[in-house]
Amino acid sequence: MMQLLGNAASPYVRKVRVTALETDQDDEIEMIAVATSPINTPPEVSAAHSAGKIPALMRPDGCTLYDSRVITRYLDARAGGLLYRENRVWEVLTLEATGDGILDSAVNMVYEKRVRPEDKVDHGWLEAQWAKVENALTALEMRWMSHLSGPIDAGQIAVGCALGYLDFRHPDREWRKGHGALDDWYAVFSERESMKATVPGD
Ligand code: BEZ
Repeated sequence: MMQLLGNAASPYVRKVRVTALETDQDDEIEMIAVATSPINTPPEVSAAHSAGKIPALMRPDGCTLYDSRVITRYLDARAGGLLYRENRVWEVLTLEATGDGILDSAVNMVYEKRVRPEDKVDHGWLEAQWAKVENALTALEMRWMSHLSGPIDAGQIAVGCALGYLDFRHPDREWRKGHGALDDWYAVFSERESMKATVPGD
């Protein structure tokens, strides 16, 4: 049995859980719930991931794997390699990086507000992070809709988890406005069993 260190709020952990479900390996992974924050790293997380982050996948027969992109690729390789298809691997990895890039900015915004006292929150910086998210959403609509409409892959999973995280933590930003094609795509993608089984929560 593999063990996944993570929690139900982390979109990076969600990527791994969706991948495990899509590749039919969910019953081989036990989720170990840990509470992390930028200023509090539990010892079991530091022990598993040298930079103190989640997710980390502990394997009985090999080294512990991190981060989410390594784990998703490992799970996919174990299941036959359909989510990182060799003939499109650079596109898939770039799409995955786009989803992860949205997440990095969106998560940083949450941390800025969660960790700093209210009068120290840097609103200019928050807006600059949101501008990166907006830019990526526009790029997805301009360049990636045909890829997103193809067979499921790791890039689609990353984008799906990123949009789910925007709904979870930034509903006030209304990402759907001006992004109708992405909204339509996500309405279908979020109905997958793997997405419904991993809706984020605190
Ligand atoms: C969150 O609570 O939004 C969160 C938790 C873990 C990792 C990233 C984000």
